[in-house]
Amino acid sequence: MVKALLEALVLLAKEGAHHPSGVMVSLNWLVDCLGTSRQTASRWLAELEGRGLIKREREARGQRIRLTQAGLQVLRSIYGDLRAVFEVRPRVFKLVGRVVSGLGEGSYYMGQRGYREQFKRVLGFEPYPGTLDVKLSGGSTGLRAELENLPGERIEGFTTAERTFGHVKCFSARLGRTRVAVVMPSRSSNVGIIELIAPKNLRRNLRLKDGDPVRVEVIT
Ligand code: CDP
Repeated sequence: MVKALLEALVLLAKEGAHHPSGVMVSLNWLVDCLGTSRQTASRWLAELEGRGLIKREREARGQRIRLTQAGLQVLRSIYGDLRAVFEVRPRVFKLVGRVVSGLGEGSYYMGQRGYREQFKRVLGFEPYPGTLDVKLSGGSTGLRAELENLPGERIEGFTTAERTFGHVKCFSARLGRTRVAVVMPSRSSNVGIIELIAPKNLRRNLRLKDGDPVRVEVIT
């Protein structure tokens, strides 16, 4: 599509023409924004309409312009291309450590319905009620600190009859070839440990015991 037409389409979308109700615009406004003559601006609008990318309705105060599905599609496809160019790609964090036992708190937290339902929605699996704790070795604790600063997927806090549970975040991850997730409380106290959740009991399924070395690839 001609660059000028595309610019006009983007401009209209920024103004709100992508909403189902469209947006009221005046030719003067368009002329100012595009820096063209009135004649050229009208021709571009006519051309966008002719190509089925916008719909125009005359109203008492001017014209209402709305992007059609085809118009939206043009913008979406460019958006997708640009996102692939500019967005920072997900980075995989490779952490190593050893399986350890915790204090039995994981099963208490992971047993809460308020968390379970959200984990299911966000991760696509219902977690086994518990966490497998991994004590990280030297270099991996630095990576864990970096994870602290990344948003991950947010799991909201909630309140039950007994108490309030804070929000946590999680990251999709792999333990060997098994799909797991890393769960982090909003403010973790134990910075040398990561807690993993999975659809199944990992100790049983992967025959893991305390002290076994593991590699966890976290997708950020
Ligand atoms: O006692 P601890 O805090 O280590 O664990 P828990 O969260 O209460 O979980 C109970 C047991 O299941 C522990 O031995 C965990 O390591 C294990 N577990 C597992 O193997 N796989 C999971 N997906 C979750 C927990």
